[in-house]
Amino acid sequence: MKQLTANELRQKYIDFYVSKGHKQISGASLIPENDPTVLFTTAGMHPLVPYILGADHPAGKKLVDYQKCIRTGDIDSVGDPSHLTFFEMLGNWSLGAYFKKEAIDYSYEFLTSVLGIDPSTLSVTVFAGDDKVPRDDEAAERWMSHGIPKERIFFLPREDNWWGPAGETGPCGPDSEMFIDTGRPACGPDCRPGCHCGKYLEIWNDVFMGYKKTKEGTFVPMDRKCIDTGMGIERTISILQGKKSVYETEVFTPILDGISRLCGKKYGESEETDMSMRIIADHIRTSVFILGDEKGMAPSNVGQGYILRRLIRRAVRHGHKLGIDKPFLCDLVPIVLDLYGAPYPELLAHKAFILDELANEESKFSDTLEKGEKEFEKMLPNLLKDPKKCIGGRTAFKLYDTYGYPIELTKELAKEHGMTVDEAGFKEAFEKHQAISRGGAEQQFKG
Ligand code: ALA
Repeated sequence: MKQLTANELRQKYIDFYVSKGHKQISGASLIPENDPTVLFTTAGMHPLVPYILGADHPAGKKLVDYQKCIRTGDIDSVGDPSHLTFFEMLGNWSLGAYFKKEAIDYSYEFLTSVLGIDPSTLSVTVFAGDDKVPRDDEAAERWMSHGIPKERIFFLPREDNWWGPAGETGPCGPDSEMFIDTGRPACGPDCRPGCHCGKYLEIWNDVFMGYKKTKEGTFVPMDRKCIDTGMGIERTISILQGKKSVYETEVFTPILDGISRLCGKKYGESEETDMSMRIIADHIRTSVFILGDEKGMAPSNVGQGYILRRLIRRAVRHGHKLGIDKPFLCDLVPIVLDLYGAPYPELLAHKAFILDELANEESKFSDTLEKGEKEFEKMLPNLLKDPKKCIGGRTAFKLYDTYGYPIELTKELAKEHGMTVDEAGFKEAFEKHQAISRGGAEQQFKG
């Protein structure tokens, strides 16, 4: 395997598909243009949905690009060694120009000839079929024609081998995922690609877009079949470089080093501080991309702005936990810009905005953080006495209402002390408060 960096992988991927007659197109904004069902662009195909559904793309029928993506579904898992909120996706598309056979041929050639992956370590999955769509024997046969033996082709159900749509509606289809078998022993009789024990590492996904999911939840076959593939850069380089985690690759180590310098602790010193450092590294990278997007979003209380606000606040809290006692987020921005300014020049163009907004949000939140956490510490001995180890909704609401301390962070604080938060109770207290304020306002204007 070639130990490529992110920049090398990006370039080799584009060059390969250009050499196969694809046109390179620019990735799109992180804010989807044609999909009100999600806040962010979640995959390379997302901006291409209208073309997959039949519109003519000005660059033709064979396309390749790299796309910035954000998936916030598992935002609370960030901090473990593998989850990220932001990632880059490499993709190639056929808008009715070629289908399954060619897509698999290109994938096999890229993996083995360009990335130098030993074919004997490749395993693939294909769709097992169900009452709606038949089993994908064609894909399996194509993999076999390249010498992948039956034992390394896994037929898996819809929950594993069906991709899309990117939002709630749109194009989707059965897929074929490619994995490297690390050679580790199987964790049990059911161990197979998709198992999280670490034996199989997923590197690429070829989607055979043949259906459109409607608002009503039905799958309508599309007349013109398309190809959509997606390779996550961070994950793939960590596999190629033999790293245990995406955080050990060159797209994160400079950020972690920067955090290390700010807090005086080394990455690798303790699991607890490593986790805070990973959260800051992930969240600052994502925040820079949201602020520096061509559609530049600022922190706010709704939509994308609220996700950004949550990311910034959580990063600030973890900086605080690491003992950083001054504003620090802006110190990390030049590191992110050094890493990504060349492939994403919009970040450089928005540098002043990124720095201003981060400084502003950090300074506004630092005070809240300090007061809220002091209050929490005061309450803690009592809270810990609760036999159910559950923080009441009214208590969580008091932190929010009196100190502005966000519920997400109360949940995180609670978890760190082995507790949970009564979220329904919080919501109830919140709504009651709103009703009272509304009543108050109405009273004021009466008579
Ligand atoms: N759209 C497919 C994915 O995101 C390729 O995995």
